[in-house]
Amino acid sequence: MKKKVSVIGAGNVGASLAQMIVQSAIADVVLFDIADGVPEGKALDLSEACPLWGSSSSIVGTNDYAHTADSDVIVITAGFPRKPGMSRDDLLNANAKVVSEVTEKTAKVSPNAVIIVVTNPMDVMAQVSLKVSGFDPFRVMGMGGILDSARFRTFVAWELNVSPEDVEALVLGGHGDLMVPMPRFTTIKGVSIIELISKERIDALVERTRHGGAEIVALLKTGSAYYAPAAATYQMVKAVLFDEKRMLPCAAYLDGEYGAKGIYTGVPVMLGSGGVEKIVELNLNEQEKADLEKSVAAVKSLVEKLNL
Ligand code: APR
Repeated sequence: MKKKVSVIGAGNVGASLAQMIVQSAIADVVLFDIADGVPEGKALDLSEACPLWGSSSSIVGTNDYAHTADSDVIVITAGFPRKPGMSRDDLLNANAKVVSEVTEKTAKVSPNAVIIVVTNPMDVMAQVSLKVSGFDPFRVMGMGGILDSARFRTFVAWELNVSPEDVEALVLGGHGDLMVPMPRFTTIKGVSIIELISKERIDALVERTRHGGAEIVALLKTGSAYYAPAAATYQMVKAVLFDEKRMLPCAAYLDGEYGAKGIYTGVPVMLGSGGVEKIVELNLNEQEKADLEKSVAAVKSLVEKLNL
């Protein structure tokens, strides 16, 4: 029997993720949304693509949480995306309500699942999901760092005219404007970009990465990015389903690591079937530590607004 992934929210991110999972046939998918007909329509469309993709995955679209029962992974993308001029933080109250509701309903019927939160402001939404689900913290995590790192990798690859695949990058901290791209840990075949790109250009690439989401929002005008967010989430889903023990930057619940306690933020983790199986502590220099602290403080101030 295939593993089961429930994708909550059949909008741009959710439907793109569902496509990636079904096309690669790594799991069966349940696509849930409150919108009448939308999850069913998208699921039917994806089902009809399966013969063409040679996929044996099944996909069910639904407005009924019962269909999500016994999922191995629950991905929460439900909520509202940004519009031009909005920060991820502007979505706080509206999305907290949505994430709280969908977590309660899904966790009840899939008590052993791993939850991956995508809805923004993601680090805070992961905390909402942790509290409402009552799950162990290692089974509730957020997607942000892989996406931010992928953006950084892309910009570095363009700068040096190398394949983006050969660029390894790391972005830590909250998935917001104070995220912390880490040039020292960003390498091409093991060589740090500090040795390859001028400080001035690195600063420009870091800045573009920090505002990578807003750059796309400004172009699209009606919503936010979804192909790369879905691809980043896919990588996490796959790591959990196949117990890959991938080392990836994800939002994890910190309990003293990096000097932070009781808060979600983006750090390197080992991702496997148990969820966040390990938090990797890097040796940061003073500047990196200060930047990370600032980023964590920003997440904390949002959490405080919600009285979690
Ligand atoms: N229960 C289930 N689904 C809901 C609920 C709810 N209570 N409220 C909203 N939704 C659904 C909407 O009906 C919509 O189909 O969530 C979906 C969101 O899809 P989009 O508007 O296309 O947004 P998307 O681009 O997918 O982004 C979703 O991910 O990256 C983040 O910032 C982004 O928070 C946003 C989320």
